[in-house]
Amino acid sequence: MLSGKRILLIIGGGIAAYKSLDLIRRLRAGGATVRCILTAGGGQFVTPLSVASLSGDKVYSELFDLMNEAEMGHIQLSRDADLLVVAPATADLMAKMAHGLCDDLATTALLATDKPVLIAPAMNVRMWGHAATQRNLATLRGDGVAVVGPNEGDMACGEYGPGRMAEPDEIVAAVISALSPPVKPLAGLRALVTSGPTHEPIDPVRYIANRSSGKQGFAIAAAAQAAGADVILVTGPVDLDDPAGVAVKHVESARDMLEQVEASLPVDIAIFAAAVADWRVANAGEQKLKKTAAGMPPLQLVENPDILATISKLSDKRPPLVIGFAAETEHLIDNARAKLARKGCDWIVANDVSPATGVMGGDRNTVHLLTRDGGAASTDIKVESWPVMGKEQVATELVARIASSLTGKTPEKTL
Ligand code: C5P
Repeated sequence: MLSGKRILLIIGGGIAAYKSLDLIRRLRAGGATVRCILTAGGGQFVTPLSVASLSGDKVYSELFDLMNEAEMGHIQLSRDADLLVVAPATADLMAKMAHGLCDDLATTALLATDKPVLIAPAMNVRMWGHAATQRNLATLRGDGVAVVGPNEGDMACGEYGPGRMAEPDEIVAAVISALSPPVKPLAGLRALVTSGPTHEPIDPVRYIANRSSGKQGFAIAAAAQAAGADVILVTGPVDLDDPAGVAVKHVESARDMLEQVEASLPVDIAIFAAAVADWRVANAGEQKLKKTAAGMPPLQLVENPDILATISKLSDKRPPLVIGFAAETEHLIDNARAKLARKGCDWIVANDVSPATGVMGGDRNTVHLLTRDGGAASTDIKVESWPVMGKEQVATELVARIASSLTGKTPEKTL
């Protein structure tokens, strides 16, 4: 798997650096060539001589080494590799990477590279749990950096918890996966996702809304895009950045959402994750409603169009796979089954949104997937209950199911 691959291994300053010696050995045994940068801190834990002996190459550590620049500049060093691996990645290295700082050879190579980067964090458990490190981790993930570990266990400092560097065999597995070309099982397919709440105007300054954050729908759009689909995301008002590579249409009301959904057809997959307001105000004021002596203004509500049902029941442009959501606070599965039949969709993702679950607006979700294969007339419904997981992971799993249902292929990794 690693044959002919060139790894630039950056060894940071942590007690876990001793494991990086074994990592070098394993990577080379797998067929990779390994070139190493030893940071000043790393050099306190392992010697350049051991690193050079195991890698079979010169060890690089000084940024302003003229000889070295004459032989190979730091830019060249970082571009000459197929993958950069930082192991151990200390809290300091992660912070510098997250902020684009470059005051030594390791950080300069990391900033100058155009190659994928994998980090194996290792640090004291409290340093790992610190908000600053977690912020940096999120930034690095957002920048596309792959992360392996850390593992939980006894620490060299005598504490217990997450912070131990992943074992060399785990890092080798992560290296192989980082070097494998991503499988794009949804390539060539168009996916439509709705997300977020809708805002139904009462007057020009007030509206009816709900607590949907849009996080689940955005995560699904991003996962479908990562799986190679052309994704259109129609979203109500949310406080989230548009996912990269996705065509995003921002709307306010349910009727706007339906219009944009219809304009996006035909698609191969439609996933309706939006929490569409069931009602809108029939007599919404053209001007701001005023308090009057006559008391409260009567708001007349009328039903909004049901976007999921409308699209599920189309005769011509009905997408081959239509997926709805059922957010329920009681009788989850029974209500979801009934919804599947009533709306005419193929699958339902059912989730319990009782306030105690923290699902609405939160980052985690506990879902049940109801699938009906064999057309809308089929009564053969399967129910799969998934463990509690992050909304990104729910999205990845859902996209994996979609891929295997439509194409028989699955994305490379289901988390
Ligand atoms: O009926 P209920 O709102 O519980 O149905 C939820 C499902 O229907 C979700 O997939 C939601 O996006 C969709 N829906 C819709 N248009 C509506 C109401 C719900 O697309 N007006």
